[in-house]
Amino acid sequence: MKLSKRLQAIYDMVPSGVVADVGSDHGKLIISLFQNGVITKGYAIENKVGPFNHLKKAIEDNKADGITPMLSDGISQLPSDVNIIVIAGMGGFNVIDILKKNPRKLKNVGTIIVDAHNAIPQLRKQVCKMGYVIADEDIICESGVYYEIIKFIAGEAKYLDDPDLEFGPVLRNEKCITFKEKYQSRINEIDNLLSNKNIPQSKVKELTNEKERIRSVL
Ligand SMILES: C[S@@+](CC[C@H](N)C(=O)[O-])C[C@H]1O[C@@H](n2cnc3c(N)ncnc32)[C@H](O)[C@@H]1O
Repeated sequence: MKLSKRLQAIYDMVPSGVVADVGSDHGKLIISLFQNGVITKGYAIENKVGPFNHLKKAIEDNKADGITPMLSDGISQLPSDVNIIVIAGMGGFNVIDILKKNPRKLKNVGTIIVDAHNAIPQLRKQVCKMGYVIADEDIICESGVYYEIIKFIAGEAKYLDDPDLEFGPVLRNEKCITFKEKYQSRINEIDNLLSNKNIPQSKVKELTNEKERIRSVL
């Protein structure tokens, strides 16, 4: 199964173990993990009937018999043998909600891999508060959209300052080309917005501050 660049980056972070892919949808990620022998067992979770039926069919069509499709909300029915969770392609607040609603289900979960569309600083903060540390991060650009993938592992919380939360402790330390491109393009966007003389002073201040924060990590 051919994975998109984003799904491949997530795939590359998954260790072997029992995986739950929460919000699995098409199931491509977990089916690939199974087909390539990264995992021998996993759960593909969906909370909507339409995507769930497609998911079930994709698992059957690909003979991924180690993967169990589950129609359930988030991690509310998470089986106790799951030690890795992947949550990808959702808003950050939805991810936080899924994890916070059932904290006891995380007892055996040593790894959480997240690709959220937004609210990434809040996500870093909240997952770390739940007893995880950031072990790895990646950033990729696909069809002009930047995606940040974060791998949390269970461990004693490390202090994350505001730049860590905003830019990612690993990403801002590594400063890969894609990271630099993302923030250079944001600086260009900000300059463009600031060239409009009609924007309110409060917005000018907000954008100027953001630009300074970016400059300080680039
Ligand atoms: C945009 S798709 C992402 C699919 C895949 N994970 C990916 O990254 O390509 C998000 C999926 O998450 C599902 N979803 C959203 N909230 C959920 C929840 N609380 N529990 C289970 N699935 C959920 C949606 O139904 C949808 O199929």
